[in-house]
Amino acid sequence: MDNIISWTAEDEAIIGTNTDATECKRCAVELGYWKDDYIKYFVKHVDRKAPEINRGYYARVRAMEMFINQFLERCGTKCQIINLGCGFDTLFWRLKDTTQAVGNFIELDFPAVTAKKSHIIKRNKQLMQKIANEDSEVVIHEGDLHSDGYHLVGCDLRCLGEVRRKLAAASCSRDAPTLLLAECVLVYLRPDAADALLRHFAAEFPRCALVVYEQCNLGDKFGEVMVRNLSARGCSLAGWRGCGPPAATAARLRALGFAAARSWDMQAVWRALPEDDRARAEALEMLDERELLLQLNTHYALSVATCGDIFADIDLNA
Ligand SMILES: C[S@@+](CC[C@H](N)C(=O)[O-])C[C@H]1O[C@@H](n2cnc3c(N)ncnc32)[C@H](O)[C@@H]1O
Repeated sequence: MDNIISWTAEDEAIIGTNTDATECKRCAVELGYWKDDYIKYFVKHVDRKAPEINRGYYARVRAMEMFINQFLERCGTKCQIINLGCGFDTLFWRLKDTTQAVGNFIELDFPAVTAKKSHIIKRNKQLMQKIANEDSEVVIHEGDLHSDGYHLVGCDLRCLGEVRRKLAAASCSRDAPTLLLAECVLVYLRPDAADALLRHFAAEFPRCALVVYEQCNLGDKFGEVMVRNLSARGCSLAGWRGCGPPAATAARLRALGFAAARSWDMQAVWRALPEDDRARAEALEMLDERELLLQLNTHYALSVATCGDIFADIDLNA
């Protein structure tokens, strides 16, 4: 039986973080940091963001992509991707434009977010045509969208029973190689709820890899200010205590049942990107706030964990 978790004003603020992320991504895309032909359907107009924010989003998207590509190279496309707290992420459509479209792509978020995403997909031919094909129909029911190979389902990640039911309805298979994505999501869950969710995946999916991007080092002075500022805007980070130094995050993931795990702060990730990519991004905008960017980079981390033989050697440059 799931714990009953009542809906709060804080949940509204957490849902609002998706709007922030989508706007920031669209701004960086318009400035040329990376290519995304689909983000424009999910947010109409954006104000220009500060260069360190754009640079941070570029590093975030590039870092996630680095391991998504590694996973697909190793496992092939007969696999599934489960995007936890997907927001308006466009990865499904971006992969469809490559040779790497996967067998089953499942997205989960609060029903308020998934219903809105379903609605946007339905309204836009360019999004819809990547989902629909001649042999299968697209079914949208109570905000959930199901099609052959793409499922967008609403649930609360804090309720494991609900997550399991929604995954089953999305034709999730425990035997397929599985890539779990958690981009800026787990920090909104209390550590016990995030632990229960991750422990479930580590126990039930024998061949899976998890890629997490979120805050780290929140226990130091700069981290405390980040937590306080967000809380003052009505958005408390229920999971902030789980966002310690990267080494502690890797140890936590191993303790939850993953066979191997590693974690790096974003300064390390940035340094590991190819020289050309960094130079291109650095040339896009003048950056005055170098110190602020360094602080931000050392307060976000990329963590990767694996069960089975998917990432025998987890490394940034593998
Ligand atoms: C900062 S946004 C990130 C969205 C997307 N992953 C990205 O990086 O663009 C956080 C997302 O996590 C979702 N989320 C947070 N807590 C959740 C929960 N308990 N259940 C379902 N979704 C949740 C929010 O609704 C929001 O869409």
